[in-house]
Amino acid sequence: NYYGIIMAGGVGSRFWPSSKASSPKQFLDILGVGETLFQTTFNRLARLIPAENIYILTNEKYVDMIKDQVPNIQDEQIVPEPEMRNTAPSILLGALKIHKKNPDALTVIAPSDHWIKEEEAFLASVQTALDSAEKNDRLLTLGIEPTTPNTGYGYIKYDKNDEAEVKKVQRFTEKPNLKKAEEFLKAGNYVWNAGIFIWRAEFIIRLFEKYLPEMYRLFEHGNSYWNTEEEKEFLAKNYPRAANISIDYGIMEKSDSVFVIPVKYHWSDLGTWSSVQSELPQDEIGNTVVNGRLIAENSENNIISTSNKKIVVLKDLSDYIIVEDENVLMIVPKSEEQEIKRIREQVMKDY
Ligand code: GDD
Ligand code: MG
Repeated sequence: NYYGIIMAGGVGSRFWPSSKASSPKQFLDILGVGETLFQTTFNRLARLIPAENIYILTNEKYVDMIKDQVPNIQDEQIVPEPEMRNTAPSILLGALKIHKKNPDALTVIAPSDHWIKEEEAFLASVQTALDSAEKNDRLLTLGIEPTTPNTGYGYIKYDKNDEAEVKKVQRFTEKPNLKKAEEFLKAGNYVWNAGIFIWRAEFIIRLFEKYLPEMYRLFEHGNSYWNTEEEKEFLAKNYPRAANISIDYGIMEKSDSVFVIPVKYHWSDLGTWSSVQSELPQDEIGNTVVNGRLIAENSENNIISTSNKKIVVLKDLSDYIIVEDENVLMIVPKSEEQEIKRIREQVMKDY
């Protein structure tokens, strides 16, 4: 009764220009390892969950890409969303469909764009969570030891004196402001939410009914349509009406049934080009080339990615992100990395 839901509908805007709406980050081999992040995610989950029980929630426009990347996948395993509505609506939709197939289903919800090298340790923690969710009605999260006051994550507070492997969560705070994040980091009994969730499909559906009742009522009408000809029509009409909200704000912050398994293995959500650099080897003067060849003179600590393995020549240029993709060449100082998202929007508007 193990099922998976892979969330693969995001656009990965901080990885522009490599990642774009037509081929977002999860469908790229952003680390140059020979597999896309989505393929790695699917294969990792398939070690624990029967491959035919893994559902992929994504935007309509990525369906063909998914079929190319994971051959043998059945049509019913891909759930196309007519519009982006963040994670809560997709998770509810996935839960309803899976629950109809198997009312006993235990589900693992996984983002499609994370990097977890230590697969054994990861799978062991997910197994612990599945066992816990099977015995009790609870929402299981995996907690990562925080290293910086990053405001892009959810922060999970647990009791300092709790020695259990699976700890009761005292508070879940999604994307706190910097001041709060700094406090949390100092306090010591907070971990980052890895964005991977484990629970019984039936239980999360009940919590949607409680905390997001409008969304629940909107989708619950679809129960007779799942996996029929009419499903597409139902979704086209109703999906865009769902509130645009993440599971973190919609359910995790509100529920008092959240539990966390703090984990020790390395995890990265590959949020930025710099985070890609920390996963990859650098040459002796700190340059990282994802795809391409570098000839550098007096140039250090750069990140370089090209399409078609181009040769890049640098003289006297350090601490830059240089990304070339068919139509765009982007050169941005590393220190201004967070501006890429905004620049991308500007470029989209103007060109
Ligand atoms: N199917 C679908 N539809 N997937 C989506 C959608 C959508 O509309 N929007 C986002 N996703 C996918 C993304 O592709 C990603 O894999 C995952 O859902 C999470 O969405 P993000 O937009 O990346 O969330 P976040 O990074 O801001 O925050 C979440 O992840 C953090 C860890 O990486 C939260 O869960 C935080 O609490 C957590 O710390
Ligand atoms: Mg993310």
